[in-house]
Order: sequence, then C-alpha cells, then structure tokens
Amino acid sequence: MNKFGGEWTKQKLDVLEDYLNFYMTALKNMNFKKIYIDCFAGSGEIEFSDESKIEGSTIMSLNLDNKFDEYHFIEKDRKNFKELEKLKEHYPELNINVYNDDCNKVLPKIISKIDWRFSRGVLFIDPYATQLDFNILKKISFTKGIDVWYLFPFHAINRMLKKDKNINEEWKKVLNRCLGDESWEDDLYFESTQLNLFQNIEYEKVSTEDVQKFICKKMKEVFPYVSENYLVLKNSKNSPLFLLFLLISNDNPKAIGLVKKVEKYILKDKTMV
Ligand SMILES: C[S@@+](CC[C@H](N)C(=O)[O-])C[C@H]1O[C@@H](n2cnc3c(N)ncnc32)[C@H](O)[C@@H]1O
Repeated sequence: MNKFGGEWTKQKLDVLEDYLNFYMTALKNMNFKKIYIDCFAGSGEIEFSDESKIEGSTIMSLNLDNKFDEYHFIEKDRKNFKELEKLKEHYPELNINVYNDDCNKVLPKIISKIDWRFSRGVLFIDPYATQLDFNILKKISFTKGIDVWYLFPFHAINRMLKKDKNINEEWKKVLNRCLGDESWEDDLYFESTQLNLFQNIEYEKVSTEDVQKFICKKMKEVFPYVSENYLVLKNSKNSPLFLLFLLISNDNPKAIGLVKKVEKYILKDKTMV
C-alpha cells in the first residue's frame, strides 16, 4: 500500500473525482469509447501517517457510477503493480489493463494504439517528483482526445532552480526534461545589477509566482487549453508543493467552453493562485 500525502492528497483526488463525474455525464450519450489512464497509478489505496486509509485514484475511478470502457494503470513499483493486478479480480466486469513499467515508455505505446477519432479519455499524471518527460505531454496533446490532470512537481523543480543560477549539470538535465527545453535559463533568471568582487556577472532568480507563471506558459505552448485557475497544493507550512493543471488536447471551441465552465465549478472553494 502507498504511504504518503497530507491534506493536498485528498484535495487532488476530490478534484479528479468531480471531473470524472462531470466527464462521464457529459459524454454519456456520445458514441465515443471512454478511456481512463492513470500513469503513476500507486497501489489502489493510500495510507496516511495516522494509519487512516482512503481509496487512491485507481479504485476511485473504478467505483464511479458511470464506468469507462477501458482502464489503463501504469505503475513502476513491482509491489504496487501486484496490488493493482488484484483489482481485475475485484472488478471482473471492467476492462482493466495494468502495466509494470516506466510510464514514459508505456504511455506513448498505449495512446498510439487507440483510435482517437472514436475515443475520448482522461489521463491522471500523479508523480511524487520529476519523473515525467515533457515530450510525453506533446504526444498526449497530439491525440486531441485526452483531457489531462497533471500534478506538476513544483517544489522539486523550484528547489533545483538555485537562486544564483549555479546549477549542476545533473539538475540541468532534469530541469530540461521536465520543462521541455532550456528556455528556463533565460526566462527565470536576470542579470544582477550588483557585480561581485571580480566584476563577474551574477544572476538573480524571478519570484516564486513568476516561476509558476512560466510553468503555465510552457503548458500553454503544448495544449490548446490550460486551466486558467490551476490549483496550488501546499504543505502544512504553506509552501507550494504541487500545481494541479487541467490540460485539454481537444481544440474544439465548444469542448473548451464546456471545460471552462466546469473548471470554475470544480475548483471553486479550493485554494488558487
Ligand atoms: C503519488 S503516487 C500515485 C498515487 C496514486 N495516484 C493514488 O492516488 O493512489 C506515485 C506512484 O508513481 C509510481 N512511479 C514512480 N515513478 C514511476 C514511473 N516512472 N512510471 C510509473 N510509475 C511510477 C510510484 O511507485 C508511486 O506508486
């Protein structure tokens, strides 16, 4: 069983559940194959430090009133994968597919096998940290059939973006992979007006809010629509841990209009930027 989280864990799952309910109602009478993909799937249940448990995203998706036609759960950890495999026995009537691999490898294969002219899907991306390669987002957007909730690992990224831009090569690679390219180097730093003792150029980093805006901008470069009010999930000390984005790959104005309405309703009363 997966052990992690805090209040933000429940918050992200509430948002996802509300969206899945809206989604299944909106598509109920439409002739599309409906697909749910969970690419950091966990073990099915989540246990908190006080030993209380809740349904994780996979079990929650299986328990919705309206069922998807296909479920795809990707989980790298062998133990968690085995727990997920058991869900097939608990829900024999549902089409559940479980993969024990890195989602960066498996997800492109899954989506390339689906005919998106006749299918629509929701994808939940819920990593602990910086595991998702930004290029995967481009492949998802290309389908024009997938709505994505991405829990972006803001804290992990922001920690690597050192204030003086003195970032080691290993972290630079992670930042490039997670943010898509090297544009963060110019966009998130500016030359300091104060020269040091040796007259070298020194750098300063933009504000936390501007780092968040930059991440949002990168998402907008890839998706036709990115939620206007992304959710900032914070820890008990009020520091931002994750940004929860809704990314829409369908460029149809009607579909985007509907999402805008529901996004307002779902994110209402939640802490936003
Ligand atoms: C935050 S947990 C997911 C929780 C899950 N969404 C839930 O609600 O129960 C992240 C999961 O991703 C798995 N994981 C880490 N790296 C992965 C990768 N590259 N591909 C697939 N799964 C990965 C971890 O083993 C862990 O179970």
